[in-house]
Amino acid sequence: MAAFNLEPFMRSHQERVEALLRERADRLAPAGTPPALLESMRYSLLAGGKRLRPVLCLGFADAVAKASTVSAVVLDAACSLEYVHTYSLVHDDLPCLDNDDLRRGQPTNHKVYGEPLALLAGDGLLTEAFGLLASGPEPVRGALCGELARAAGAFGMVGGQVLDIAKDRAATLDYLLRLHRLKTGALIRAACRMGVVAAGGDAAALASAESYGDAVGLAFQIADDVLDVTSSAEAMGKPVGADAEAGRFTFPAVMGLEASRRMADELVARAQAAVLPLEGADGPLAALARYSVERKS
Ligand code: IPE
Ligand code: IPE
Ligand code: MG
Ligand code: MG
Ligand code: MG
Repeated sequence: MAAFNLEPFMRSHQERVEALLRERADRLAPAGTPPALLESMRYSLLAGGKRLRPVLCLGFADAVAKASTVSAVVLDAACSLEYVHTYSLVHDDLPCLDNDDLRRGQPTNHKVYGEPLALLAGDGLLTEAFGLLASGPEPVRGALCGELARAAGAFGMVGGQVLDIAKDRAATLDYLLRLHRLKTGALIRAACRMGVVAAGGDAAALASAESYGDAVGLAFQIADDVLDVTSSAEAMGKPVGADAEAGRFTFPAVMGLEASRRMADELVARAQAAVLPLEGADGPLAALARYSVERKS
């Protein structure tokens, strides 16, 4: 069977996510919201990016949905993931963390709005993510809030960011795996799980999403580390070489480039095997797993 053609799938899903985010961003402004805060939140949220987490959420929802119409719950879940992801980038770029000047091809939020507003815009996006998830009557929204909170919080992304900046860390592969699974893997895994939960998938589908999300989440951050060594700021829309400069603990630094690439390939194969029962051979989720490591930006 011919391999799935990801390009049109990715483009149409990304366009869909852009439209959904714009629509929700327009609703973000009850009277009295400070205009500068709103502008700063919209600046980062609507700056583009690959939209991988919402696309994964929509992809898993499609794979398990019985109806052809996508529910508002699925759409809100997809957008809430991008709110949290964007907040994590705004804070990650701050001088107290990675101190970066470029993100998604434009100056970082704090370079434009200053550190206090960048910090608060991140806080706003994080909080609004849960507001969005809780914005309807469907009972499943509660479970989705729990999924997102676990992935984003102290035992997920935030905890991973702390492991990333720790000074007293052990230079072992185990530590690196734990760090990557938390700082990046947790939200990607949640994107897959939330697609299944929002669309009413069963326990077997959730187990597929869990192991696919775990493998893709890890592979995605390995690729991010590799691209930091091998790509350019023009292609990435963010600085490269930054990890080495900051003395960060990355896959290429610990295992070397070739072993890092091999490990990412093994994880892609593991992810593809996990979704075979859901979509058969050569479906969009398998192609997205490959994209997570072969991407150019
Ligand atoms: C960057 O995420 C931060 C990491 C977790 C590696 P993405 O590579 O998904 O960034 P955008 O959303 O496309 O800008
Ligand atoms: C950050 O990892 C992951 C987040 C939780 C934001 P990086 O610091 O490697 O992400 P980039 O390279 O700046 O996008
Ligand atoms: Mg960082
Ligand atoms: Mg960074
Ligand atoms: Mg990076």
